[in-house]
Amino acid sequence: MLGRNRFLILLVVGGVTLAVISLSLQFLNLIPSAPTEKRPPQGADGWDGAILAKSRKRVFPETHPPGPNSVGDPYSYCNTPNRSEQAWEGHSPADYKLLSVQVMIRHGDRYPLYAIPKTRRPAIDCTLSPSRNPSHPLLASFISHMGLGGRANWEAPLHSIPRIPNHSSCEMGELTQTGVVQHLHNGQLLRQAYSHHGILPSDWSPRQLGIETTSRSRTVQSGLAFLYGFMPDFDWGRVNVRHQWSTLFCGSACDCPARNRYLEEEQRRQYRLRVNDGELEKTYADMARTVGVLARQLRAANPIDSLLCHLCHGLSFPCASPGDGSAGKCLTMEQFAVIRRQQRNDELDRGRAGHYHKYAILAMYPYLNQTATKMERASRDGARREEVFSLASGHDITISPLLSALGLKDESFPRFAARVVFELWRSPPAKAKQGDRSKGKGRPLFIRILYNGEDVTFHTAFCRSHDRHAGQPLCPLENFLSFVRRDMFSAVNATSYQEACSRR
Ligand SMILES: *[C@@H]1O[C@H](CO)[C@@H](O)[C@H](O)[C@H]1NC(C)=O
Ligand SMILES: *[C@@H]1O[C@H](CO)[C@@H](O)[C@H](O)[C@H]1NC(C)=O
Ligand SMILES: *[C@@H]1O[C@H](CO)[C@@H](O)[C@H](O)[C@H]1NC(C)=O
Ligand SMILES: *[C@@H]1O[C@H](CO)[C@@H](O)[C@H](O)[C@H]1NC(C)=O
Repeated sequence: MLGRNRFLILLVVGGVTLAVISLSLQFLNLIPSAPTEKRPPQGADGWDGAILAKSRKRVFPETHPPGPNSVGDPYSYCNTPNRSEQAWEGHSPADYKLLSVQVMIRHGDRYPLYAIPKTRRPAIDCTLSPSRNPSHPLLASFISHMGLGGRANWEAPLHSIPRIPNHSSCEMGELTQTGVVQHLHNGQLLRQAYSHHGILPSDWSPRQLGIETTSRSRTVQSGLAFLYGFMPDFDWGRVNVRHQWSTLFCGSACDCPARNRYLEEEQRRQYRLRVNDGELEKTYADMARTVGVLARQLRAANPIDSLLCHLCHGLSFPCASPGDGSAGKCLTMEQFAVIRRQQRNDELDRGRAGHYHKYAILAMYPYLNQTATKMERASRDGARREEVFSLASGHDITISPLLSALGLKDESFPRFAARVVFELWRSPPAKAKQGDRSKGKGRPLFIRILYNGEDVTFHTAFCRSHDRHAGQPLCPLENFLSFVRRDMFSAVNATSYQEACSRR
């Protein structure tokens, strides 16, 4: 279990051996071999190399306020709950029937994963209080409902994880009230979107609802907030929560040596780009001087994650501690902008190099295969007892490869409480083509994919060339099935997962 998503690469650079420890693809830290260095916790979100470039193809106008110094998109990343946004889930031509919905979320707003050394940590309260902003009409009843959670069936080790955040001074990585509110809001959006489609009947059975999460408290709590927004006062006794130890949600199919090799190539690419960026090096050196640590210590603390937390919570950037040589000096928005600029370069370079896409194909196959299987089951006649609503609660390092595997190249880095939704639809009897045998099984099936409420179906690799104006306004499920079962592996010159994974 340990080390599955932690890679240790030894690079010999100029005679100096540096241990490069990476939690994930997006996370590449230079950490000196000194044993005193604090290592990031296992299974944390990968952040450092994060892609935060503005999407070049937004369909909706940006409604969030522009931030200072043209780094406006942090607010989009923060996903501040005051934004009114559109949700296109549940939209279809008239009389189509919704058969299944599968949702993958990233946890909501959280405390930073690492502290910037020698600075005061951001003061954020991680207890929940309906009278504090941002709040939500469901927050008070959510808090009391979570107190009854012992009645659910929790797969180990989930039963021991607190069901709401409850520290007056947040712990590292803890979900904040903002994060809870984001997912109450998401769940409620989907409740409204599907209210006319009767996706889960009021007498739903435990089999019809599938929930899985990694064992971080922030993913468990985010999943619960989402579920509560979706089904307020749900019956705990019918809820089974499965545990996914891998952030890739790969279940029992995680073993894939070739995937790890693509990841290592990607990490080497990222490292080379970074060390060749003189402005970035200088910026880290300046920042380190301000707070009074070595540049490599600052880098290892992944300062961008902490700075984003300050921005999301309206706190000013940290300053040198009193009594230090540089007392009074603070980290600046200009320094932040340089790191963000490098992240955008990194994203472009990543797309050009292609290792990440190959990694993503192999990383996300098990989840996509599972998604396809659930859709097929839900489409069968008499499928009433199959899983029709699924929720997977993961991380940025879950959503990023999922977007890449689907061929969604232009989507922005998964913000807090991001959501990917898979919908399965069946056309009405009148629209069925001639030759269909029954009014159920033979009727054409369609898939829709949405990212943060936006319909991205026709940007995916398997439906990009579908002509939605000629005849079929939706994307045929068949396109998705042949993509998952075979076509997606052409990116790694293979025809199956087994073949691609075992290749030398
Ligand atoms: C929404 O939140 C952002 C970030 O905290 C803030 O800058 C903005 O003023 C808020 N907008 C409204 C309408 O409250
Ligand atoms: C939260 O923590 C406080 C103080 O430790 C405790 O009294 C309270 O019962 C806790 N609430 C929940 C819901 O766990
Ligand atoms: C893919 O799904 C099928 C069921 O449709 C299952 O039998 C198979 O084991 C899955 N393969 C992997 C690698 O997960
Ligand atoms: C793709 O795979 C085939 C058969 O495994 C092999 O002959 C061919 O050289 C490979 N092509 C590339 C570009 O790797």
